Amino acid sequence: MERFTGMSYAVELEEVSKIYDNGTHALRGINLRVKEGEFVGIVGPSGSGKSTLLHIAGGIDRPSEGRVKLLSMDITHMSEAQLTEFRKGKVAFVFQFYYLMEDFTVLENLTSLAEVLGLGDVKERALKVLEFLRLSHRLNHKPHQLSGGEQQRVAIGRALILEPRLLIADEPTGNLDLEEGKKIFSLFRSLNERGITFLVATHNQELIPFFSRVVKLKDGRLEGDTAGVGFEPTRDP
Ligand SMILES: Nc1ncnc2c1ncn2[C@@H]1O[C@H](COP(=O)(O)OP(=O)(O)OP(=O)(O)O)[C@@H](O)[C@H]1O
Ligand SMILES: [Mg+2]
Repeated sequence: MERFTGMSYAVELEEVSKIYDNGTHALRGINLRVKEGEFVGIVGPSGSGKSTLLHIAGGIDRPSEGRVKLLSMDITHMSEAQLTEFRKGKVAFVFQFYYLMEDFTVLENLTSLAEVLGLGDVKERALKVLEFLRLSHRLNHKPHQLSGGEQQRVAIGRALILEPRLLIADEPTGNLDLEEGKKIFSLFRSLNERGITFLVATHNQELIPFFSRVVKLKDGRLEGDTAGVGFEPTRDP
């Protein structure tokens, strides 16, 4: 078996398998390395293991077999507490269903997580992130007063406020129309150009040109590892 090397990888999965408690074999012998600075897409049919792979890569679930390295740290046997501490400010997640706090405003949704994580007073940073996300006019709105695209951008803002090195996103545009999806992927691209590594699962074929590399999952196995188709996506004017 290949050994982990000293290169700068954001994620390294080595012979990773996942069998859930009910016996479902969700991943089988996955070997995947994501270099720092990459923008990697995970595609594959429903049930192929995309979410499972993302959760294991980010250390929010554990493999049944194999080893996981996150930002060059072997996290395979880390405790929950160690993992939370290690991920803090380095790894952020965006989920398909945004899990925004309904009683909090847009601004509070950004600042409260950072405060819980002990990152201090992040209001200034939150205002900058929200400006970047075209949400400055929505600071005091609550999630139910926002469009789907706006809510998705708040969820992305909540990840960005952590200033992560790695952003893991599971179907981040799953509930959006294609135009809004492209805007979000353009935003991801510009953040990627600023150095954030992305690992993103999507169903949407139209968004594939945005990735620098695409990996395909089928029945819990990696099918192919394709160099990016372009890396010059159609930009919004
Ligand atoms: N907590 C769980 N317990 C048991 N089985 C699970 C669990 N989560 C996922 N599975 C199963 O593992 C397999 C992979 O699921 P996963 O959610 O990773 O797929 P996916 O590619 O993300 O699918 P989708 O595109 O529908 O989101 C599926 O067969 C699923 O039913
Ligand atoms: Mg999924």
